Order: sequence, then C-alpha cells, then structure tokens
Amino acid sequence: MRAVVWHGIGDIRLDEVPEPTVQHPEDAIVRITRSAICGTDLHFVRGTMAPMQEGTILGHEAVGVVTEVGDAVRGFSAGDRVVINSTISCGACRYCRMGKTAQCDVANPNGPQAGTSFFGGPESTGPVDGLQAEYVRVPYARNTMHPLPDTVSDEQAILLSDIFPTGWFGAELAGVTRGDVVVVFGAGIVGQFAAASAYKLGAARVIVVDGEETRLAAALAQHCEVVDYNREDPVQAIMDLTNGIGADAVIDAVGVDAERPKQGPAAVSDEQAQQFDAEVQQVAPDASPDGFGEQQQWKPGDGPSQVAQWAVASVAKYGRIGIIGVYGPTAERYPIGQAMNKNLTIRMGNCDHHSVTPPLIDLVASGQFDPTALITEHEPIGSAIEAYEAFDRREPGWVKVELETSK
Ligand SMILES: NC(=O)c1ccc[n+]([C@@H]2O[C@H](COP(=O)([O-])OP(=O)(O)OC[C@H]3O[C@@H](n4cnc5c(N)ncnc54)[C@H](O)[C@@H]3O)[C@@H](O)[C@H]2O)c1
Ligand SMILES: [Zn+2]
Ligand SMILES: [Zn+2]
Repeated sequence: MRAVVWHGIGDIRLDEVPEPTVQHPEDAIVRITRSAICGTDLHFVRGTMAPMQEGTILGHEAVGVVTEVGDAVRGFSAGDRVVINSTISCGACRYCRMGKTAQCDVANPNGPQAGTSFFGGPESTGPVDGLQAEYVRVPYARNTMHPLPDTVSDEQAILLSDIFPTGWFGAELAGVTRGDVVVVFGAGIVGQFAAASAYKLGAARVIVVDGEETRLAAALAQHCEVVDYNREDPVQAIMDLTNGIGADAVIDAVGVDAERPKQGPAAVSDEQAQQFDAEVQQVAPDASPDGFGEQQQWKPGDGPSQVAQWAVASVAKYGRIGIIGVYGPTAERYPIGQAMNKNLTIRMGNCDHHSVTPPLIDLVASGQFDPTALITEHEPIGSAIEAYEAFDRREPGWVKVELETSK
C-alpha cells in the first residue's frame, strides 16, 4: 500500500509499504478513505520537533471503514465508518476516566511519564505509524475511534479527527466565556477552528493575528477582526481595540514554528533578531535554518517565542492564555516574569480528543456547524509530497489539505 514516510529532516517520500496487521487484541485495522496534512506534520519535516524515527508513517488525521478487529475489541466490527482520534488512549486508566485522554497512562509504549501518544509522531510518542496511508493499525481501537453517523460526510468528518476538537480545546483552555474579547494568534486551520469555537462558547469579539493575507481573509469571512503583524504591531492594535485593557483570553494556535515580523512597526530590532537566531539553534539544532533549495522548503520558524511574548503582552491583567500551538521539549524560553506580574492563568497541552469530540460530531451532524468550507485543497495521495511542499511554503489559499486515499 502507499503511505507518506518520514526519512529525515527535509526528506519525506510516498513509499510502498506492507499493509498493517492486528498486533494486539485491542487493535483494529481501518481502510482509510480520507486523511489530511496538519501543521503538526510540518514541525517533523522542518526538524522543530525531533527526534523522529526513520521509517515512521506520518499523519494523525483520518476517516475510514473498519476492516478487522482484534479479539478484545468490543463495540466496533468490520464495516463500521469511523473517525480516528489523533491521540491514542486506553479508556481504562485514571486519566482516561477523567476525560484527560491525552495523558493516558497506558497508550504510550515509552511509559506513563512519556506524555501523549499519537499517530505518526516523534520517538517519544511511540512511535506509532500514522494515518497518511491506505490502511492503518489503530491501537486501543475502542477508545481511539468514534463511530460516524451517515449524516456526517467523510469531508466533514476529517476535521473531527484533530482540528475541530483541538480548536475547541484551545478555547476551553483559555476559559472563553460569554462576553469575552478573545485573541487568536495563528490563522491556520487550528486558529480558524479556535476562533469558531470561541464564538460558539459566547465570545463577544474574536481578533485573529497572522501575517498571511489569504488566511486572514478566511478569518474575516468568519467575522473575526483581523490584524496583519507585518502591517501593524499586534500588541498595540489589540490594546487600541480594547480601550487599553487587553484581551480577556488569548489562544496560541501557532507554536514553535512562529515567524518574526519581516516589515512594519513590529519588525524586530537587531538585538531581538540575534536572540531569535539563538532560540532557533536551541529549539531545532538539526534543522536547516534557511530551509532546503531556492524555495527555502522546510524552513523552521524564525521566531520560536514570538507568539508567547505577544500573548503575554496583549492579554489583560488576570487574563487567561490557552496554548495549543505545539512546542517540543527543546523550547525553553517563555516570558514568565511578565506573566507573573500580570497574575495570568496559562494552560496548555495536547487535545483530549476522545472526550472533546463527541459533542462536536453532534454539532456537525445536526447541521449547526459545517466545517467543510475551510478545507481548501483536495489532493490524491499520489500527490501527497507536492501537497506537503505547497502547504509548507504557505502557498496563497492553502489553508488545509485533505488527502483522498482511494485516488
Ligand atoms: N495541541 C494540539 O493537540 C494540537 C493539535 C493540532 C495542531 N496543533 C498545533 O497547532 C498549530 C497550528 O496548526 P495548523 O495546522 O493551523 O498549522 P499552520 O502551519 O497551517 O498554521 C500556523 C499559522 O501561524 C501563522 N504564524 C506564524 N507566525 C506567526 C506569528 N508570529 N503570529 C501569528 N501567526 C503566526 C502562520 O502564518 C500560519 O498561518 C501547530 O503548532 C500544530 O502543531 C496542536
Ligand atoms: Zn493535526
Ligand atoms: Zn488511558
């Protein structure tokens, strides 16, 4: 079967690999009908979240049909249509029982203290082969999948695998409540769903900050107030928009590949530039700081702590920050002193997919929310590598890529 395989930083390939088999009684095998490329996958190819194991199949977002279940799988059988959670969880440990499934004590083969286990991730997450493939093995299948009603199409369901739950989780981490002024940093697909979720949770205003025009246009289409960090100083703009108070809640939907502004009033000084260069070196020592080739493909973000700094500076005193943009263990710089001085509440983490997703499936099934408008690219798996490259370069209009695995 065909699968997208990680071979090294800047080196991913569409390979022919053996089909997966049931290895444990709690496994299921799923024939994938839709997969997708996520901003998280870019961190692995850019080298900002290492180390990866060569040969790992990438991808952690998929919809499909169960073809086989292990002897211990109850509740699912061959022929069921399912959405697969990005994160793997056992359903029986104390964390799973609290709904905190991203910190399952059992699913990560590296042990209970190793953190979240998810498909297609670094060594420390398993590694477990990912979902950009024609068939996949789903560990702890009873708890790592959800059944799909017929009223939810594959195209709607693909965003229920990771993006919609993560956006919702981000709004919950930031404690979004009725009347809030919310700022979302990052207008990628995760930021778009964080903004939509903030509105659904009662936010009065949602301000979205990014430097990419077409992504800001997508946020504007959701009636967010948009700020381009290459034209305005985002912190000043947010202060101006809030009578100098700042936002009640801020969601970081960017993470470690944050860019520094290249022009405009927020463009960094020489001293800040040097500090960011040193950070890139610390965060991603094996990455190629200028990327690969003329197109600067797979270039790591050149301002790893930029969003952390803006978030703390633009939130109100006693404000709340929710961090869903991913930072790996090598990211160590955070403006903790300024946060302390403002009495902030800061929460962060990987989405608890298994417990967050069910009500969101209902929102989509009932027609109250149609996520498909934000899927901008529909590519056959045969073109997966070119699609990865275009998405990495943030080609205008490329907000989210779904991969059709049957083509
Ligand atoms: N916590 C979780 O469970 C979870 C799940 C899925 C994705 N994520 C993470 O969410 C983040 C976003 O994912 P995505 O798929 O939307 O990625 P993406 O790469 O498509 O989007 C990131 C966006 O951030 C923008 N950006 C870069 N620097 C910025 C800055 N200084 N200020 C404001 N915006 C800036 C980029 O222009 C881009 O539009 C990634 O870090 C991803 O790993 C986390
Ligand atoms: Zn994802
Ligand atoms: Zn568990």
